[in-house]
Amino acid sequence: MSITHLLLTREPGYATVQFNRPEVLNALNRAMIADLIETLEELDADDSVRAIILTGGEKAFAAGADITEMAGAGSVEMYLRDQFAQWDRLRRIKKPLIAAVAGVALGGGCEIAMTCDLILAAETARFGQPEINLGVIPGAGGPQRLTRAVGKYKAMEMVLTGAMITAREAFQWGLVNRVVPAEILAGEAAVLAKTIASKPPLAVRLAKEAVLKAFDTTMEGGLEFERKNFYLLFASEDQKEGMKAFTEKRKAEWKGR
Ligand code: CAA
Repeated sequence: MSITHLLLTREPGYATVQFNRPEVLNALNRAMIADLIETLEELDADDSVRAIILTGGEKAFAAGADITEMAGAGSVEMYLRDQFAQWDRLRRIKKPLIAAVAGVALGGGCEIAMTCDLILAAETARFGQPEINLGVIPGAGGPQRLTRAVGKYKAMEMVLTGAMITAREAFQWGLVNRVVPAEILAGEAAVLAKTIASKPPLAVRLAKEAVLKAFDTTMEGGLEFERKNFYLLFASEDQKEGMKAFTEKRKAEWKGR
């Protein structure tokens, strides 16, 4: 299937969604974001999909929100448009999202990558929040997610100077899981997606929820939440099967129930 601004490919257990506006370095216009959300929500509802890779092209994961689309807007129009409310739906996707980044991930592109659950970077990847150079600030989660990922001082530097960082710096700063040669980025993302797809889906879902909870609750609240998810899994067939298979020294067969 291919919709206007994205390419979608499916493999057993996972799907890859690719931004497809190479002529503008995958600048994220509203139509592409609408396509993205619709596609991800469809994949999220599909039991055969257990992990989703989000990627771009060789030169750009995405160079940010489409500047031409915003340039002439007033603040009331921007407020009423409330385009980031739509971006927010990304963080409600329950399946693990893997960003595979080559080339630039700037502004909204960096923010979308950071909304994913894992980030693989090609050696060619560059990350940045250059909005300051446009007279604005990152508005789709950058200051929050970047600060949580790399800490106050490095986040301040990126947001206040607009400077890009390399894939290696992003790795050293804790923004990406690993850096790989560009030629094997897609393959590495596929290996990760397949690995996650081979795990019990219900436990994967509750594990993702539990990790994300750490970002918006106290330690006490988070511990309580993850404990309940842990206990809840003992009502699943997969927990019975997983532990039985371990004692019988065989491979477990997951049902996602
Ligand atoms: N919006 C619209 N068009 C964009 C774009 C963007 N964010 N980024 C690149 N393009 C377009 C360029 O206008 C150009 O189009 P034309 O060929 O029609 O002129 C084409 O993509 C190729 O770009 P360049 O010629 O500029 O390529 P380059 O290799 O010289 O530079 C770049 C690459 C450094 C990424 C440069 O394009 C750039 O700085 N882009 C803007 C990055 C940016 O400021 N992003 C933040 C946007 S605001 C935001 O994202 C807000 C938010 O919080 C969500």
